[in-house]
Amino acid sequence: MVNLYRLQIIEILKTGITVSGEYMAEKLGISRVAVWKHINCLEKSGYEIESSKSGYRMTVESDTPIPEAFGSEGVNINHLLSTGSTMTEARNAAFAGCPAGTVFTADTQTAGCGRRGRGWLSEKGGLYFTLITRPDSSPMSAYSSTLTAAACLCRILNENFQLPARFKWPNDIYIENRKAAGILEEFFVNGDSLQFVNLGIGINVHNNPCFKSAVSLDSAAGRKLSRKNILKVFLQEFENRGKNLNDNLKMLNSYSILKNRQVRCRGVRTAVVSGTAADITEKGGLKIITPDRKHHFLEFGDEINIDF
Ligand code: BTN
Repeated sequence: MVNLYRLQIIEILKTGITVSGEYMAEKLGISRVAVWKHINCLEKSGYEIESSKSGYRMTVESDTPIPEAFGSEGVNINHLLSTGSTMTEARNAAFAGCPAGTVFTADTQTAGCGRRGRGWLSEKGGLYFTLITRPDSSPMSAYSSTLTAAACLCRILNENFQLPARFKWPNDIYIENRKAAGILEEFFVNGDSLQFVNLGIGINVHNNPCFKSAVSLDSAAGRKLSRKNILKVFLQEFENRGKNLNDNLKMLNSYSILKNRQVRCRGVRTAVVSGTAADITEKGGLKIITPDRKHHFLEFGDEINIDF
């Protein structure tokens, strides 16, 4: 939910000039104490605002994805300083009937979840969010939301942020052979209808991931990126590309880090298979060509190992 006062304060202070509390109070139709309280709130979200006898001056605009930072488009954004997991926030909201497009973000998560019951370390500086979607499709195609999100993420990181992001089937985004982001999907089916598909995305942005196999966007880019901008561009891309699975698959295959590489995989229901990774299929699986030229299809949800 956008706080209209904070939205206006950001707009006023964005100019970089010093503005008196009195001026803002009058302009916004609130007391000077109320202005001060809103300024305090913005400071907690990372805005650096100097206060002096002559008023307030913004020295650093925060990249925290608070709703006010998105202007009028921020109505669907719910930002929390800390929470257990944005998946839980989104699940509760989705069951309560909140609309598609609602987003929960958090600066830190105390019980962040990854795939297959693993945790997701969620220290300050990363971008952690869950997007609620309500696709008008069959439960059998719920997996396609992860593929669409992955296609969008690869595209924006490449096109908007000049990062060589690649997709590692089934749910990871890699940059130069190290994991930069992960996607977790959760859906609910009632009878034969898909009620919601929640997409949880964790991206290492400014945080220093403690595993050697992981990388942050800042260190890959050699500059500081903005979490707010990444989320903004991702949501726009997802809205535009949301529906065309075939196009998204084509794009995703072009970003696939596994294609033509030797892989070793253990399926959920199958034995270990080794071979050359080929395309991601329409059903969200991964085709593996074994040395005896047989085609083997991994199901969405299987695990894959590769030596980089
Ligand atoms: C994975 O690679 O295993 C998926 C990780 C997904 C992490 C994100 S962070 C935002 C959302 N909230 C969570 O608890 N998990 C997802």
